[in-house]
Amino acid sequence: MIYDVSGRLQTNDFTDVAASKPLLDDLEYEFSSAISAGCILCLLHSHAADEETAVFPSVSKHDAATVQAFIEDHHALTRRLETIAKMAHDLPSKARPEERVQLGIALNRKANDFFAAYLDHMNREEEKLVPLMRERFTDEQMRTMRSGIMGGMPRDRFAWVLRWMLPSLNVSEMTAMLGAIKATSPPPVVEFISGIAAQRVDPQRWQAVKERVGI
Ligand SMILES: [Fe+2]
Repeated sequence: MIYDVSGRLQTNDFTDVAASKPLLDDLEYEFSSAISAGCILCLLHSHAADEETAVFPSVSKHDAATVQAFIEDHHALTRRLETIAKMAHDLPSKARPEERVQLGIALNRKANDFFAAYLDHMNREEEKLVPLMRERFTDEQMRTMRSGIMGGMPRDRFAWVLRWMLPSLNVSEMTAMLGAIKATSPPPVVEFISGIAAQRVDPQRWQAVKERVGI
């Protein structure tokens, strides 16, 4: 999602208000105010609420300081998003094309700052949080957390997450994920996820996953 929206920001023609609209619609941060159902920054931002609800309370019992630091990161990331969303919102109202181009350059820079901070946050979660969870929780407990996140999402948002997540997984990761879902979820859930994978994942990779999982 980051690489995609970043490339679009870099190459967008802000003199063209109509052509800029889909990109700017992706730069909200709250689903409640977003125009686009799959608003990209909304999806990125939703990771914070998911973690704080389904993961952090359990991890906090083992390492409250680490969890607190990640929560503070989330708040700082939200403040960056508020700025980006306001800039994106204000940009089309500028009458002069040169002014919109200048605001577009500033918006691109702000978004890059956010993406750098976000990727750094995700890397630190992978380095600190994931090993801690592997040490303290069983696979079953972690699967329950994942199911809680996925099951708690509105269906259309879940579909948008999968449209981005599935093509971003390699064969082994997707096989493990689909295998676990097949083992623990009713067939309609597997069909729902497989349908999105068939549309979005590279056909060769998806064929390999289907053979390995047996779907
Ligand atoms: Fe996080």
